Amino acid sequence: MKMNLRNETAPNRQTPQCACPIISSKDFHFYYGATMGVKNITMNVNPCSVTAIIGPSGCGKSTFLRSINRMNDLIPNIRTEGKLCVDGQDIYDKRVNLVNLRQQVGMVFQKPNPFPKSIFDNVAYGPRLQGITKRADLDEVVEQGLKASVLWEEVKDNLRKSALALSGGQQQRLCIARALATRPRVLLMDEPCSALDPLATSKIEDLITQLKNDYTIVIVTHNMQQAARVSDMTAFFCLGELIEYDVTSKIFENPSNKKTEDYITGRFG
Ligand SMILES: Nc1ncnc2c1ncn2[C@@H]1O[C@H](COP(=O)(O)OP(=O)(O)OP(=O)(O)O)[C@@H](O)[C@H]1O
Ligand SMILES: [Mg+2]
Repeated sequence: MKMNLRNETAPNRQTPQCACPIISSKDFHFYYGATMGVKNITMNVNPCSVTAIIGPSGCGKSTFLRSINRMNDLIPNIRTEGKLCVDGQDIYDKRVNLVNLRQQVGMVFQKPNPFPKSIFDNVAYGPRLQGITKRADLDEVVEQGLKASVLWEEVKDNLRKSALALSGGQQQRLCIARALATRPRVLLMDEPCSALDPLATSKIEDLITQLKNDYTIVIVTHNMQQAARVSDMTAFFCLGELIEYDVTSKIFENPSNKKTEDYITGRFG
């Protein structure tokens, strides 16, 4: 069931602990060897919502985001404690298939990182790994991905062109199309607009708003206005801890914690 986060009895108000979260973290800790990345993170994310993670540099935003699809597993000597579940499944359980997890939980990075392949082959990459080989099926999945990322009209006559020939903003939308092509449930975005100009940024923000009809999005951003514009819920991290997590309008208009207030009013960070 899809939830309308802004349409409950109290307008613009939703309890952070929802009944059927798609992401659920309970006392989650992440360590890089002896270095603590995040500690004691307890938060739930509703399906079909946008959650922003904000906080000063080095506070663990990327660490937590990358924990949600175990991207951090590539780093040696990492260790976790507590629980992090996606769709009710403990993703740090030894039996979890990482390929499946990353198809369910896609990721878009700060710098657009298309493969040095054609536009078509970038979007078809994941579906091919999933075993889709028929040309007509691939055509369809590529078209759907590019339409979902609002890039189709700009590239439909040049699908064989190299992805590297696209502009930065187009490359980022291509990376979003590539992530969507495996039909994930969750899309993680780590500062997806920080390398883009204001126009390309506004296209990605519009896209995020559209995508939340079908996907759950968690976005890390240093841009307060962006967090306020696109997200339903905002989590404020500081020194590896979750300081405050609430409805975005509450965080920005009437935060409960002094540290949150100091950060959003620019007094530190
Ligand atoms: N690969 C790594 N190995 C060791 N320590 C790391 C690694 N990546 C991050 N850390 C440490 O974990 C902590 C959290 O870093 P993280 O990158 O998650 O912060 P961040 O909030 O995303 O910062 P920024 O806003 O600068 O991107 C920091 O102390 C950082 O130095
Ligand atoms: Mg980061």
